[in-house]
Amino acid sequence: MCGIVGVVGAEDALPILLQGLQRLEYRGYDSAGIALSGPEGLALSKAKGKVSMLAARQDLLPRALPCGIAHTRWATHGAPTDENAHPHTDCHGQIAVVHNGIVENYRELKGELMARGHRFVSDTDTEVIPHLLEDYGGATDLLTAARNTEARLQGAYAFLAVSGQQPDYVVAVRRASPLIIGRGDAANYIASDFTAFLDATRRAIVLENGDMAAVTPKTIRIWNEQGALVDRPEMTVDWDIRQAERGGYPHFMLKEILEQPEAWSDCLLERVQGERIQVEAMGLARAALAGWERIQIVAAGTAYHAGLVGKALIETLARIPVDVDVASEFRYRDPILLPNTLVLAVSQSGETADTLASLALAKQRGLATYAITNTVGSTVAREAGAVGYTYAGPEIAVASTKAYTTQILLLTALALALADARHRARTDLVAKLASLPALAEQWLAASEGIRLAAQSLTDQEQMFYIGRGIDYALAMEGQLKMKEISYIHAEAYPAGELKHGTLALITEGVPVVAIATQPRLMAKVQSNVAEVKARGARVYAVGAAALQESWGDDSLATIAAPDPLLAPALAALPLQLLAYWTASLRGEDIDKPRNLAKSVTVE
Ligand code: G6P
Repeated sequence: MCGIVGVVGAEDALPILLQGLQRLEYRGYDSAGIALSGPEGLALSKAKGKVSMLAARQDLLPRALPCGIAHTRWATHGAPTDENAHPHTDCHGQIAVVHNGIVENYRELKGELMARGHRFVSDTDTEVIPHLLEDYGGATDLLTAARNTEARLQGAYAFLAVSGQQPDYVVAVRRASPLIIGRGDAANYIASDFTAFLDATRRAIVLENGDMAAVTPKTIRIWNEQGALVDRPEMTVDWDIRQAERGGYPHFMLKEILEQPEAWSDCLLERVQGERIQVEAMGLARAALAGWERIQIVAAGTAYHAGLVGKALIETLARIPVDVDVASEFRYRDPILLPNTLVLAVSQSGETADTLASLALAKQRGLATYAITNTVGSTVAREAGAVGYTYAGPEIAVASTKAYTTQILLLTALALALADARHRARTDLVAKLASLPALAEQWLAASEGIRLAAQSLTDQEQMFYIGRGIDYALAMEGQLKMKEISYIHAEAYPAGELKHGTLALITEGVPVVAIATQPRLMAKVQSNVAEVKARGARVYAVGAAALQESWGDDSLATIAAPDPLLAPALAALPLQLLAYWTASLRGEDIDKPRNLAKSVTVE
């Protein structure tokens, strides 16, 4: 996820900003930049690549300036290039802006600004902000301009702005994406998380959603969403730096699990508008949708499991046949690919060798290709005919969590768009899809029970995961999460298949995670649960809230999905946490499990 840092009132802003950027490197990024503000106006340096590259050419920037803003960018709108790196400026280089999150209506705003003669140099959504600020007189009155600009922006974001004509002044705006102000003795700091300024001060004020702040060397003024001047409490941060780099969490994996509400909302923001899916915001042309008669999904690992969920959703909602292949199998099985097949590659990194080879095969056969990936500018994004980004932010733990659930969300949106194109629109589901981030947040806030349940798994050697239909796809991901980080041997089975052999392994105390989010299959799963319980299995049920009572003591988590077809992403949360807490209690190296790599770029 992008990182923001700013300082005002420093003796020499440059080294402070460089150190802040280094502290934010853990968040993952592909480019970085700095803007300094002083009596001579603004000075700027930015580039694709590492913060160390910026540091190596710091001689290009003036020293001893009091104020500046800086940024590490994780590309969303526009590839990782020098031009797209932040800060971005207005036409005259008088105002500089760094920004996290997404400005949803940037296309309209950009069109409008260009029509008024503004010149744009990047592909980013961010660049509309300095140009709007310019239009509203930001060079001389940044605060008023920020108020007017903010009123024009839609989306979830945070930004800092500086003007070359107000060198001791930073304006900060928070709309969903976090921003924190650090209060120092002679200087004040603003950053997207504490880590960036912990070397300078531990006194911090967390801006609330909708807040706007004007920060000078000696003053911090904050206005709330209604424009009223407010006092926000100051806190003292007692984290050490390593802890802070993981947002205070013991592992990136836990941090990334808990980031899912934000990741989901970034993923859905532009895609769900009222009762319609905005297919263009998914990289697709609406006209193409009706022409695909079959879909072939190719992917590896967790992304393959997301593909299986996608198959269930697309077939149910759009009634288009979907095949899902493990990419390493697909490329060598000489697949039969009929005309009018869309080949869809799903890949968090966008660099998995087998997935890329599968995509190349599809292109050789002359088929339309589409990629769902988390990594802007990745090979899969460049090679596929069209691309939809998951916008989950960088995922650092090897075990995929937020990338997986955002893949599911994008596949859900695709299924709904395809259904619409076939006159099977489910406007009710489109509207409900938008409620998932809030439901995830609620569920995660009350998820302590999963940690307690994990205590009973720490000494196990084998586990089973069962489910039917879409829940079987979830079971496959659940068992993979458990295996890869806790090293407990886990297997997933279609619930009805267990008795054809594997039931022989169910003995007293063997843990069975039963997933049952689909009311129409509930009675069937419950019979399968009865079968394993009769052999002594200990059941951990992840089930639909409506049927919670029937699970009694077996209930691990209830899934309050607004519709059964929207249950998968929510049901993934307890499965991820169960694996996480089990591995944590076993003391495993969770973020870097043995023998595994985050991105497998070789066969
Ligand atoms: C590796 C990772 C998995 C991931 C798989 C596919 O095995 O450890 O977490 O699911 O690659 O990666 P991709 O980047 O293509 O989604």
